[in-house]
Amino acid sequence: MADPRDIAVLVGSIRRDSLSRKLARAFIALAPPTLALEIVEIAALPLYNADLEAAEVPAPWGHFRDRMRRAEAVLFVTPEYNRSVPAPLKNAIDVGSRPSGKSVFLRKPAGIISCSPGALGAFGANHHLRQSLVYLDMATLQQPEAYIGGVDKLIDAQGAIANPTTREFATKYMAAFAEWIQRVAPR
Ligand code: FNR
Repeated sequence: MADPRDIAVLVGSIRRDSLSRKLARAFIALAPPTLALEIVEIAALPLYNADLEAAEVPAPWGHFRDRMRRAEAVLFVTPEYNRSVPAPLKNAIDVGSRPSGKSVFLRKPAGIISCSPGALGAFGANHHLRQSLVYLDMATLQQPEAYIGGVDKLIDAQGAIANPTTREFATKYMAAFAEWIQRVAPR
């Protein structure tokens, strides 16, 4: 079998006990073997400020950009803050998108999984994020859509998705994402 494809996972929450991070790990565990998914950390990225491009670029920006440039696709797993994505995730997108013409996201396949303890599954954040990905010219998986509600009751003590229906959905989602990557960026 060919080497698995290198997929960066960006988690929208930076708090220690993040449910989104747990959910990301649970989805990663259900991915087909054609994908090698790795959570790329965003917490240490200084806030985007174009002035810093002209001076010495902050080291965390450089490491993040290098890592993301190598990735063949990006999976976003995010909670919703005030019907949008949390600022750290937006900041990571801004950092990765610059300097102009050197975006680490350009034309890469993407997937979005949004989650909330609430019933709406962070629909607002999911679609706000889609708006940014249009501008970044990312080819974003349309179906299935992943709005995961009740995430505070979903993950068991072993870190797996407790509900069989949602586990089946997550397996299907990751298979669809793998197929999408192959379709958009065939090897
Ligand atoms: C929230 N939360 C929230 N939930 C939601 O469904 N829609 C929303 O618009 C918001 N807004 C919001 C704003 C802020 C500032 C906070 C701190 C929280 C609740 C949120 O979904 C919940 O705290 C999640 O647990 C956050 O995700 P992590 O950190 O567990 O991954």
